[in-house]
Amino acid sequence: MINMNKDDDNIIEIKNLIKTFGSFIAVDNVSLNIERGKIFGLLGPNGAGKTTTISLVLGILKPTSGAIVIDGLDNIKDNELVKEKIGFMTQETIVDSDLTAYENLKIAGKLYHLKGEALEAAIKNALKEADLEAFANKKAGSFSGGMKRRLYLVKSMIHAPKILILDEPTTGLDVQNRVEMWKRIDDLNKRGVTVILTTQYLEEADRLCNKIAIIDHGKIVAHGTASELKKQVSEGSVIEIIAETNVVEQIVKLLRTKLKLEVNVEDEKIEAFVAKDDIKMVSKVADAIYKEKITISSISLRLPTMDDVFIKLTGSSIRDKLEEQNSDRANIMIKR
Ligand SMILES: Nc1ncnc2c1ncn2[C@@H]1O[C@H](COP(=O)(O)OP(=O)(O)OP(=O)(O)O)[C@@H](O)[C@H]1O
Ligand SMILES: [Mg+2]
Repeated sequence: MINMNKDDDNIIEIKNLIKTFGSFIAVDNVSLNIERGKIFGLLGPNGAGKTTTISLVLGILKPTSGAIVIDGLDNIKDNELVKEKIGFMTQETIVDSDLTAYENLKIAGKLYHLKGEALEAAIKNALKEADLEAFANKKAGSFSGGMKRRLYLVKSMIHAPKILILDEPTTGLDVQNRVEMWKRIDDLNKRGVTVILTTQYLEEADRLCNKIAIIDHGKIVAHGTASELKKQVSEGSVIEIIAETNVVEQIVKLLRTKLKLEVNVEDEKIEAFVAKDDIKMVSKVADAIYKEKITISSISLRLPTMDDVFIKLTGSSIRDKLEEQNSDRANIMIKR
């Protein structure tokens, strides 16, 4: 039984959501509460289930089981009403290249039943928001990637929804456009829009989101603020050692067996989770390495990062995950 009462704290409630494609479980019993007025990040590697989860929230896909309540409404039964409340930006930029910026916005506004003066006012405002007033009558096909993305963002917000859902808003953007997109998202949020975004970038989740849920293989493996997640990984510090790849294995064995440390490896970087500010352990590690006559490039003590969170929770770095996924894709292509 779904509680249809409007909850003032949570604008979206996802309960025991499951989505299967044949025997494959893309979304595996996900439950999440998304707070009103905040920026929520769903962080995960390729194929983790981010887009599938978003599509279920939007009602584009029907769940195998589970329920989603959006601002007090059932997202399937009341889908038309729910749509009015949500602005949505897909992973790919969708603007019509053959139409001008003005025409793109006009069509979007009409889809949300805007007309007459209200429509014109919404278009004017959108062009201003996107810094595209001077390009209103230019075809979108002539725009740069960043301009298209800006146009797409205001097009998604033409009906002034209170929720904005962004599927990987900055994937493929250069650093400058990425930072600009962050600022635009932040500005919308400051004006009261609840933002839900998916991302593969740890830094993006860390900088932009009030709350983060990490999704891996369709399951939520952690949920909290960036600092809560970092604490969850380690109340302590991380010893980071950089060494030539040919001695990495030897060092890892030493740390694990002699010093009983929890260790992760990424190429020539070795990370050991230790107690907070345990400088003594750094000395022990350095000593052990020295005694074995192993040469290293550096050893340091630092606080955990979002990357450490990801490694600890999913067993590998997000970069490795991407490579793993790409090689899976390559294998599939070879098989075909
Ligand atoms: N319609 C479908 N039929 C079968 N499998 C699907 C379908 N849609 C998604 N999947 C699978 O479900 C898993 C999750 O996909 P999803 O697109 O949600 O991942 P994602 O986290 O958005 O990844 P990306 O970062 O690459 O966009 C993937 O393994 C994908 O291949
Ligand atoms: Mg996706």
